[in-house]
Amino acid sequence: MKFTNEINKLIGLRNSLTEPPGLVPTMGYLHDGHLSLIREARKRHRMLVVSIFVNPHQFGPKEDYHNYPQNLERDLDILKQENVDIVFAPAPEEIYPEGFDTWVEVGDLTRRLEGFSRPGHFKGVATVVLKLFNIIRPGSAYFGQKDAQQALVIQKMVTDLNMGIDIHVLPTVRDSSGLALSSRNVYLSVKEKNAAAILKKSLDLASERYQAGEIDASVIKDSMLELIQSEPLVKTDYISIASPQTLHELETISGPALVSLAAWIGKTRLIDNILI
Ligand code: PAJ
Repeated sequence: MKFTNEINKLIGLRNSLTEPPGLVPTMGYLHDGHLSLIREARKRHRMLVVSIFVNPHQFGPKEDYHNYPQNLERDLDILKQENVDIVFAPAPEEIYPEGFDTWVEVGDLTRRLEGFSRPGHFKGVATVVLKLFNIIRPGSAYFGQKDAQQALVIQKMVTDLNMGIDIHVLPTVRDSSGLALSSRNVYLSVKEKNAAAILKKSLDLASERYQAGEIDASVIKDSMLELIQSEPLVKTDYISIASPQTLHELETISGPALVSLAAWIGKTRLIDNILI
């Protein structure tokens, strides 16, 4: 496994490859959700690049950038075991040198859900992912359904800017309580982690109510909210039932729908979703 934190070295390594690699972009502190992407990409590509970069520009001023969990040594051990060929873990100054001032803004998709709650978030995500794509020039890149809106935004950018990269979106990996794995779960106390299981339960409730014939989105959202409110440690940020393509809110569910939510558990903000 080759490791570098320098763009020029990475470009040298990339240019020595005979075919475009697969890419799994991450912010590190790897868990089984990341590993599911890495293993799928490993199966599909002769060469596999994983990036680890905690991107300052996708965090709001009051968000957890400075506390975001990191453990590069442990991540590198894991990636070695997964047979990753190249790891790129640049410092912020390498990606955003003094005077950096070009930004990618994807339109309507980024003004909803996470984009509404976290203004500027997707501008940061799209910009860093475009930079990673330009530096690494992968044939395919792998993203998790856990961040459904992020995957849509990246797919939209790739389509709109004719980038010719295949975007693969893989299912959310969960723990035995149903809680979606996230690097941020380390912030949770045991009590909070137990409480957080209500999020997936509320998504399952949406699915059950829809299967039982309820198609009024607001009725389903109300029942989800009521369930979450039964857990005093959890505060709902939003609950959405939206088109899985446009993320426009649905009034009536007449086909596939993305049920998504964000909630605070103490100081930790978690998101989750399912498709129904
Ligand atoms: P990060 O949160 O580290 O996630 C990296 C990738 O792993 C993302 O595509 C995310 O959707 C996926 N992932 C996270 N948890 C998952 C889970 N439980 N199951 C399946 N996949 C999961 O997302 C980012 O980093 C950043 O925004 C990034 C794309 C790297 C840009 O900075």
